[in-house]
Amino acid sequence: KKEPTISITVVGASGDLAKKKIFPALFALFYEDWLPQHFTIFGYARSKLTDEELRNMISQTLTCRIDKRENCSDKMDQFLQRCFFHSGLYNSEDNFSELDQKLKEKEVGRVSNRLFYLSIPPNIFVDAVRCASRCASSPAGWTRVIVEKPFGRDSESSGELTRCLKQYLTEDQIFRIDHYLGKELVENLSVLRFSNLVFEPLWSRQYIRNVQLIFSEDFGTEGRGGYFDNYGIIRDIMQNHLLQILALFAMETPVSLDGEDIRNEKVKVLRSMRVLQCDDVITGQYKGHKKGDRVYPAYTDDPTVPKDSLTATFAAAALFIDNARWDGVPFLMKAGKALHTRRAEIRVQFRHVPGNLYKKNFGCDLDQATNELVIRVQPDEAIYLKVNNKVPGLGMRLDRSNLNLLYSARYPREIPDAYERLLLDAIAGERRLFIRSDELDAAWSIFTPVLKELEGKKIAPELYPYGSRGPVGAHYLAAKHNVRWGDLG
Ligand code: BG6
Repeated sequence: KKEPTISITVVGASGDLAKKKIFPALFALFYEDWLPQHFTIFGYARSKLTDEELRNMISQTLTCRIDKRENCSDKMDQFLQRCFFHSGLYNSEDNFSELDQKLKEKEVGRVSNRLFYLSIPPNIFVDAVRCASRCASSPAGWTRVIVEKPFGRDSESSGELTRCLKQYLTEDQIFRIDHYLGKELVENLSVLRFSNLVFEPLWSRQYIRNVQLIFSEDFGTEGRGGYFDNYGIIRDIMQNHLLQILALFAMETPVSLDGEDIRNEKVKVLRSMRVLQCDDVITGQYKGHKKGDRVYPAYTDDPTVPKDSLTATFAAAALFIDNARWDGVPFLMKAGKALHTRRAEIRVQFRHVPGNLYKKNFGCDLDQATNELVIRVQPDEAIYLKVNNKVPGLGMRLDRSNLNLLYSARYPREIPDAYERLLLDAIAGERRLFIRSDELDAAWSIFTPVLKELEGKKIAPELYPYGSRGPVGAHYLAAKHNVRWGDLG
């Protein structure tokens, strides 16, 4: 019996995501021999490209992990020979039927599994899914579809999208990507918690004072203003990337590592979260300024953004989980574009040591002296724990030091891109890192009312200079909950 083959169709093949992430990730998997032996890749888009033109286009962004390896260019050629192009409209059943024919020719009598990656704007998702499922799904093997956010703008539109997709696909066939779940340090969260005795017993309101989830970028919406203005930072980053990290951080121990068991626990914790209140959110938008010779643009200088836009490019929020483990512990989120640095991290601030001998004797600043665990997702992946330590010497002076696990020192190997892991899992049918529809519903329920209120009342975001640390409102919000942001020193 012949081994099955897999056909991967990237719908929206000439878009940015496909060029920058999807094709390079597929190549990396091929390069490291992770792809099945028999596979074909199709680019599908409206533009009229030949196979050769597609290959030229994607070859620009392929890179080898270890550049000096001699076989790199051979590998690239072998990979490109497996890539083909089909030009078609996203809502044309005829065009998808033509694709089906081409796929069959490549599959030469093998059982074929088919994976469609929809890298297209949300308003054409459903049409493309209809056409792909009706006209190009696998006759004998499996058919799976990967979709990227935005999954709607609020509870209603997201529910509607799910209903529409489910007319053509079963939940098992839909792979909703949140690429943060594919990041190495996010995947490591569960390993850290559940395979080390020293963390899990401390993982509750009893020992943890607050948890901070921080995302910052040092560039604005350059070139993406059109998309971004419709969504804003809460939908772009908080409702998905940061909330997913929070769910993994706070969930109970799953029954097993099976995708359903993990997602069951994530849904439970999301459903235990309090609906976010307007008082517990502050928003900001970056403004332009000049520094030396450099002129930093304002968000509203982007030609695709309306001059009077009130869209938030920064937000901070305080969230709560009303369950026995986390009652009263603030989970603070902060996400922003055009800030002073690029960073994503989780900071866990522990409670004070009760009756701390050293506080009494040596007058340490209580706030400074508590332990803090930092999981730096990117860049410079690291896990470090701030501990109080005696400065060596005859005197008795304490110092805050780091127990530091720096990935670049411990694991010099390059860390795979999130898309590699996610594509590999989708091919393997491993659903652990993909968002189930009930998770998505629960995530929207937390944020929808506040989004409606902010937008309904046209609440103006606080302006902050491009390249700064963001609006001061974030500090007031944290202070209201007795928290000091840990990323400030
Ligand atoms: C995307 C957002 O989901 O994530 C972008 O739409 C953001 O606005 C990006 O820039 C950040 O991803 P990464 O992997 O570069 O941190």
